[in-house]
Amino acid sequence: MDESGQECPDYLVGANAQIDPGVTLGYRYPGDSQPTRIGDHAIIRSGSIIYANTTIGHRFQCGHQVLIRGEITIGDRCVVHHKCTLEGRLKIGHGVKIMAHVYVPSRTTIGDFVFIGPGTTFLNAKYPMREGTVQGAIIEEHVCIGGGVTICPGVRIGRSSFIAAGAVVNKDVPPGTLAMGVPARHQALPPNILPENLLEQLLPQTDLFGAHHDETWKTENWTSS
Ligand SMILES: CC(C)(COP(=O)(O)OP(=O)(O)OC[C@H]1O[C@@H](n2cnc3c(N)ncnc32)[C@H](O)[C@@H]1OP(=O)(O)O)[C@@H](O)C(=O)NCCC(=O)NCCS
Repeated sequence: MDESGQECPDYLVGANAQIDPGVTLGYRYPGDSQPTRIGDHAIIRSGSIIYANTTIGHRFQCGHQVLIRGEITIGDRCVVHHKCTLEGRLKIGHGVKIMAHVYVPSRTTIGDFVFIGPGTTFLNAKYPMREGTVQGAIIEEHVCIGGGVTICPGVRIGRSSFIAAGAVVNKDVPPGTLAMGVPARHQALPPNILPENLLEQLLPQTDLFGAHHDETWKTENWTSS
């Protein structure tokens, strides 16, 4: 019920959705005020839980046992693979692909056309339990983050940068940078790494088995939001 006593739905999902049994949409929490809203052609796999106060664009796809908490905005054509945790208060752009076992804490911002490799962890508290500041990372568009990376609190990763597997990113990364190692060292992107992520790899909503392949992204306008 809302404040005026009206019955409200917990979630609103667009046309042509595949919502598996065992999915929870619009999970309520103290202080929520809006239903979960998801666009057309969603695929939400079993075991996933999406909280209230969440707005997700069209052609969203998520794997099994994904947790997406409240006050999140996610753009169109995003994919979140199995066992990812997206804590509340996030902004995620269009065409973002997040591989399995990724942790994203609150107040993180992820731009358009970003790729995040498996097992990557974002952090948002520099001195947890020793002071109260919470500052998530800001990831600009077309960034590619490899597997097993740790992104420290408040770090900004500039447009088109590439973060090597296993890096610990503890400082801002300028645009067009390759960051590698622990802690990450920076160099200009070498010529063998393209300066942008390929839209044809981010947007067709193809699943692991090649099903649901969709070419309609080619007729949509994909300038950044
Ligand atoms: C960073 C990366 C793009 C480099 O690939 P590359 O341009 O072909 O470079 P090379 O493999 O020739 O390595 C060049 C140098 O960097 C080092 N290097 C490569 N990857 C590294 C990494 N992740 N961390 C630290 N050093 C690395 C190599 O050891 C080599 O050093 P050397 O010259 O002293 O021998 C690649 O190794 C990488 O990490 N890709 C991301 C993979 C990933 O996480 N995918 C996720 C989806 S499955």
